[in-house]
Amino acid sequence: MQNFDTVIERRGSHAMKWDGFAPVYQLESTEGILPMWVADMDLAAPDFVIEAIKKRLEHPIFGYTHVDEATNKAVQNWVKTHHNYEITAQDILFRSGVIPALANAIEALTAVGDTILISTPVYHPFYFVPTNLNRKLATCSLHEENGHYTFDFTAFEEALKTAQAYILCNPHNPGGMVWTKEDLQEIVRLCEKHNVLILSDEIHADLVFEGHTHTAIATLANPKNVITFMAPTKTFNLASIQSAFMIVPDEENRQKINAVYAATGHGAINVLAIEATRAAFEQGEAWRQDLLRYVEQNMDEVCTALNQLDGITAHKPNGTYLLWIDYRQTGFTEQEMMQRLLYTGKLALEPGTKYGEDGRGFLRMNLACSRATAREAITRFTKSLA
Ligand SMILES: Cc1ncc(COP(=O)(O)O)c(C=O)c1O
Repeated sequence: MQNFDTVIERRGSHAMKWDGFAPVYQLESTEGILPMWVADMDLAAPDFVIEAIKKRLEHPIFGYTHVDEATNKAVQNWVKTHHNYEITAQDILFRSGVIPALANAIEALTAVGDTILISTPVYHPFYFVPTNLNRKLATCSLHEENGHYTFDFTAFEEALKTAQAYILCNPHNPGGMVWTKEDLQEIVRLCEKHNVLILSDEIHADLVFEGHTHTAIATLANPKNVITFMAPTKTFNLASIQSAFMIVPDEENRQKINAVYAATGHGAINVLAIEATRAAFEQGEAWRQDLLRYVEQNMDEVCTALNQLDGITAHKPNGTYLLWIDYRQTGFTEQEMMQRLLYTGKLALEPGTKYGEDGRGFLRMNLACSRATAREAITRFTKSLA
């Protein structure tokens, strides 16, 4: 079993989280500040993935790549065994990331001027990817009660009437919801009724805590109507290796997506991504289970501690390693809260409005870290309120 307790120095490793946050938080110096923002882990990637990458590095030629059958099979098996979604080799389109894949699908399957709907608060690229592609963005707020989100299906259906595509985030970032099968069935029913394409970002699908089950929405829908986005990168901490895939069961959709992809000069994913993906999906299950247990214990400990602080409520998420913290009862504005965290507590968390106006009054804390770091975060958070 991997020792997740090890604290690894990441400064100086080109880590966005540790080396690149001064401009993000407008800081002159990041000295002494603990960053718990961007969604990667401060935990080592699995040994068997690192070994697979090292082994490939022993071969001295790094020419153009071809994704082999074994890697494709590893993806199919993982998706079938973990998400009960049966897919064929040709359904899988490998891409360097979920967000580039999402952009590729939007560009191929919707037109300039079309409306893309999102449920807010939500992962921030869902706002800028459609608008950067000259699509109109429509938002529909999730219903929030005590930091717990549900769909308001009446408002959702109203919004669907003028939309051509809907981007779903399941499990939900930043709220940590794992949408139930019933929720997803209703989303499918309404999207199919109004002829709206579902773009389902399921990058956090493997990070679900006990008592909750991730359902791949594509298993509930007409194959023509859903594109699913997944990756090994969140689960196994491989973001910079850049490996993701979209599942496109419909031949016509696939052709359109591939045509746009080829038109911009893109090719196959990089060779290290292929090796890492195969190793992760072939050998990763026990590691994933250990990771989930570890992160869940971080969640339990941090939630218990933060809930004792005046004005703070933190609900353990259903999944993801992201904790969504409600500070509305403190009465602090976002600016005040961020200043306290950064300058008094020396802690860099994500401000809730990064995920839209519906995120105001919340903070997102990344708990994919050692227990010692999680405990340090409690101390710093507490200090920032004093
Ligand atoms: C919901 C969601 N989608 C996509 C991504 C990023 O995916 P990629 O790095 O593969 O583009 C993230 C990263 O935090 C995420 O939370």
